[in-house]
Amino acid sequence: MNWDIKITKNPRTNLDNTDFSSLGFGKTFTDHMFIADYYDGAWRDCRIEPFGNLDLHPATFALHYGQSIFEGLKAERSPDNKILLFRPEANAERFRLSAERLAMPAVPKDLFIQSISELIKVDAAWVPKGIANTSLYIRPFLFGTDPILGVKIGDHYKYIVIIGPVGSYYAEPVNVLIQEKYVRAFPGGTGAAKFSGNYSATLLPVKEAKDQGCNQILWTDGFEHKYFQEIGTMNIFFQIGDTLITPSLEEGTILHGVTRDSILKLAKDKGIKAEERKISVTEFMIAYENKTLRDMFGAGTAAVVNPIASFVYHDKQYDLDFMDRQISQIMKHEIEGVKSGLLPDPHNWVLVVE
Ligand SMILES: Cc1ncc(COP(=O)(O)O)c(C=O)c1O
Repeated sequence: MNWDIKITKNPRTNLDNTDFSSLGFGKTFTDHMFIADYYDGAWRDCRIEPFGNLDLHPATFALHYGQSIFEGLKAERSPDNKILLFRPEANAERFRLSAERLAMPAVPKDLFIQSISELIKVDAAWVPKGIANTSLYIRPFLFGTDPILGVKIGDHYKYIVIIGPVGSYYAEPVNVLIQEKYVRAFPGGTGAAKFSGNYSATLLPVKEAKDQGCNQILWTDGFEHKYFQEIGTMNIFFQIGDTLITPSLEEGTILHGVTRDSILKLAKDKGIKAEERKISVTEFMIAYENKTLRDMFGAGTAAVVNPIASFVYHDKQYDLDFMDRQISQIMKHEIEGVKSGLLPDPHNWVLVVE
């Protein structure tokens, strides 16, 4: 379906005041945003308008009860100057799953992709060109807007997309804390949804981890703290011997990472043995002790692959400088290459914004 999107151009632009050499992450936004409202049982009033503040009722449901989900993906320029999106259908599908878990109406896949594409076209001048490692970050989000303090499924929602150029993400070597005090997710909970509350609930644990010298948390299950889940805002991968291992999704405690899925598909292409299964702290510690652990990394849109340099377990720090890290380097090279149009795209992962 082709959605009718009304475009109101911003008479002003901030482009000339933007220093593309010092962007950081999530601080700079383009001149426009996309908004659609859900009421009377359908998505309506699709529009692109000047970027600006929202006018919200103080009783807005999402502000009180956290009914809010989001997505995150990037657009890059190819060497021949096309604007490329990486697997936006996968983000649309995850957005649908998150909406379902939070009892919100899903944004149809075609609206998700059209809203992003049209907004990027209006703000195309903002997609970084020729500056190493910069890209355009895309943040779609959806939240309940009923002005009602009663806790019940509402009738009104807002779907918004904001975008902005982001700087080179420095994948600082991670010193990770194996978490045994707090829990991120449990079966039946919201761990598999990109639900805002999952993120605010980690702020205190991350602060405490930082106090212990760690910059990320490696979450373990909520029953026994025995099995790994994921790390910060990334999925976790281990290579033990010749096998790449990542926790399986079946318990519903882990976000379905697009990078995770891409790595698993690339592993298959390359004949690398990969397993999605439970991996315990004990199995990991044995592999560490006998040095069969060859790689360990977080996987996510921000850095694609983020190497784990060291970890803290039971107050003791362990270094991982003995690992060869071949798989993580292959995966980073391949995914970054496909995303930016430098390598062939056999899986048709890239969508050109026409
Ligand atoms: C909790 C969590 N896990 C994993 C990921 C990695 O997902 P993706 O590869 O789609 O960026 C993210 C980032 O979106 C995340 O927030």
